[in-house]
Amino acid sequence: MAKRTIVSLPGDGIGKTVLEEAIRVLTAAGFDADYVEGDIGWEFWKEEGNPLPQRTIDLLAKHKVGLFGAITSKPKDEAAGELSDKLKGKGLIYSSPIVGLRQHFNLDICMRPCKTYKGNPLNFIRRGKNGEVEEPEVDVVIFRQNTEGLYGGVEWSNPSEKVYEALMTHPKFQKNFGKTPVEELSISTRIFTKKATERILRAAFVHARKYGYKSVTVCEKPNVIRETSGMMYKMAQQMQKSDFPEIELWNTNIDAQMMWLTKNPENYGVIVAGNMFGDIISDGFAGLIGGLGFACSAQMSADGIALFEPTHGSAPKYADYPVSIVNPIAMIESACMMLDYLNENDIAVKIRKAVAGIISEGKIRTYDMLKVSGRPEVVENGAVSTKEMADAIISRL
Ligand code: NAI
Ligand code: MG
Repeated sequence: MAKRTIVSLPGDGIGKTVLEEAIRVLTAAGFDADYVEGDIGWEFWKEEGNPLPQRTIDLLAKHKVGLFGAITSKPKDEAAGELSDKLKGKGLIYSSPIVGLRQHFNLDICMRPCKTYKGNPLNFIRRGKNGEVEEPEVDVVIFRQNTEGLYGGVEWSNPSEKVYEALMTHPKFQKNFGKTPVEELSISTRIFTKKATERILRAAFVHARKYGYKSVTVCEKPNVIRETSGMMYKMAQQMQKSDFPEIELWNTNIDAQMMWLTKNPENYGVIVAGNMFGDIISDGFAGLIGGLGFACSAQMSADGIALFEPTHGSAPKYADYPVSIVNPIAMIESACMMLDYLNENDIAVKIRKAVAGIISEGKIRTYDMLKVSGRPEVVENGAVSTKEMADAIISRL
């Protein structure tokens, strides 16, 4: 097979550090690839007025698979103030390049696995029946619809007359909001399409089948949000019955699911949800398995573009430490998801085994695993640096 080309998108802050380490691990594990670097992030906003240059989009369109670190986003006015002098006052408006990539390539499937590593001091523990300490083993994969729903951006404050008129045709709007002055209205829509709902559901079921999960849980709120959540659940029922009869279909409400998060997280397998509920539930589960240093993700489109990234951001306060202290595991795990996607399973297994070994041995810990606050001195006080963690993983491969 021809050598693969991976687009590396370091972005800003710690995104650069963790991506560099992940690529070192990939190479040491025997993944044979060329990496081409794509320009993305704050530097390009300041110098070019565009944090996502067209050449970067072209690069990803060409090579299809990207490893992404993290970017820095700032509010509009602050962003405009940081433009280079030649670009100031030209009316340029900042928008997040990762959201830009998601929209441009229609990366509608977001997958976020949350799996407990034995021996991770950050694992969630709870009290058992007789007061004993229990450490539930979580192995959940969240499929989040990534482009629609409440984050779809169809919103108004003080809506136009046409919009207002249309809303007034709904009896509930008329009754509950019809007397509110229009300039006092803010409206965010929650739009689901059958096509995107079908895709996220099918991705969830296919994953459950491929990796042997016994259940798929639709985590929405169909009893209240009848149209969108209702459609998703109904479609899931049909799909399960016709195409995935061996997999159980469960239905939970997002609010109750958050409560059950700590009660019985080990009971769930694949979870599927719309954009916002998927965001919430995946952060919730990530908290049980170690938080941002461990939370990895993939975003995929229907036409074969895929982007793998840790869910954390650029952590600017740690970006300029003389020795980087952040945990590279979330990025390395994201790289393993890329390997799964590329059917390089043997290499992924090898890396995950090495990570698991380091964690269960308990000698090598980044600052977050030691539960101390992140300061430059942590490396003198027993925490390993980002690079040392990667070195340790490499030495175990
Ligand atoms: P963040 O994820 O960058 O950091 C929050 C805190 O989590 C950090 O201060 C640190 O204590 C901890 N943390 C993050 N990654 C870690 C790691 N690998 N190891 C150990 N500890 C880690 O989120 P924050 O501070 O809200 O945002 C910082 C910048 O990142 C903002 O400009 C934000 O817009 C951007 N951001 C970008 C994302 C992306 O690129 N996908 C996602 C989230 C935020
Ligand atoms: Mg989030």
